[in-house]
Amino acid sequence: MAFSKKTLDDVDVGGRRVLVRADLNVSLTDDGRVADDTRIRAALPTLQHLVDQGARVVVCSHLGRPKGERDDSLSLRPIADRLGQLLGQDVVMAEDCVGPDVESQVEQLASGQVLLLENTRFHPEEKANDPEFARRLARLADVYVNDAFGTAHRAHASTEGVTHYVEAAVAGRLMVTELAAIEQAVETPERPFVAIMGGAKISDKIGVIERLCERADTLLVGGGMANTFLKARGVDVGSSLAEDDALDEAKRLMEALGATLVLPTDAVVAPKADADAERRTVPINEVPSDWQILDIGPQTVTAFNGHLRDAKTVVWNGPMGVFELEPFAAGTFAMARTLAELNAITVVGGGESCAAVYQAEVVDQLTHVSTGGGAFLTLLEGSELPGVAALDDR
Ligand code: 3PG
Repeated sequence: MAFSKKTLDDVDVGGRRVLVRADLNVSLTDDGRVADDTRIRAALPTLQHLVDQGARVVVCSHLGRPKGERDDSLSLRPIADRLGQLLGQDVVMAEDCVGPDVESQVEQLASGQVLLLENTRFHPEEKANDPEFARRLARLADVYVNDAFGTAHRAHASTEGVTHYVEAAVAGRLMVTELAAIEQAVETPERPFVAIMGGAKISDKIGVIERLCERADTLLVGGGMANTFLKARGVDVGSSLAEDDALDEAKRLMEALGATLVLPTDAVVAPKADADAERRTVPINEVPSDWQILDIGPQTVTAFNGHLRDAKTVVWNGPMGVFELEPFAAGTFAMARTLAELNAITVVGGGESCAAVYQAEVVDQLTHVSTGGGAFLTLLEGSELPGVAALDDR
């Protein structure tokens, strides 16, 4: 599919001030070090290109969800250190993301130097997409590059508002890669196209389920969301997580989607989600009344593998169970390993399913592992990403 927006390749950046919106929203350790640098690494192709071209590079991002005020535990300073190591050069850290001091730091940047701004969400105007705040950000740049795929579903000042006040607003390398991989898988899939959905709830993924069912040949459902479908079908799911207020919606979806939707036929159950709890594998209609479904069972894994065997495109979002606890991780890791062995386009997105494929050490055998959670789902649903829509048309 032709990309309709301008990209890094459409702008001359040598010697110019380039503001890059990256998604450096990474997890930190308790003592404030970067715990997972995947998103920092994902920003490198754009940043390295700008450095190599002699741009004066200004990077901004949010980190966590501060309440619109400074919170030192959510400073981007540890990220500046890690980014510097990965780029092999010093990354200067700014005290703020707007204001006269930052403006003069930007003015002093030499070609190829990188300045990282402080957390954009320390200002309430960021999430409010305040035009004046967006103008203050834009004052730091001649060219704006949005490479923050993971935040592209947010219409915030640094992802959307700023585009209205710069000379050029283009997509970065990661943004282009993510959009191409995900859109190609969903819009023009090689068939058979099998989608796998998991995670806790159906209520926040109804649009995604509907669209995937329209496009996919088969939709395999596990995780907590399967319990809601099972319950709507009249299966006693014991004390499992299920959304009672989504049962009607689940019934409607099953009637509309018919055979496309495949549910678990057995499960690993326990009285509670505890690694030391007694556990059993039972047929899906034999869940004890005060026990919970915590993983798909081996019969379900075999059935899901059967559907996946000949797939040519697979899209996966959401774990099959409580995979953070080893006794309930088998179903999720089985899916990860199956995908790795397929001769197919395999696209995985969402924080938990991505964590699972990293833990299963199969990332290199997959076609694309997205850095997006909410943005990935928004794209799967076919909705517009405001951070992309606002960029300059080609
Ligand atoms: C994410 O981690 O999904 C993105 O960085 C967006 O973060 P948010 O949900 O806090 O907007």
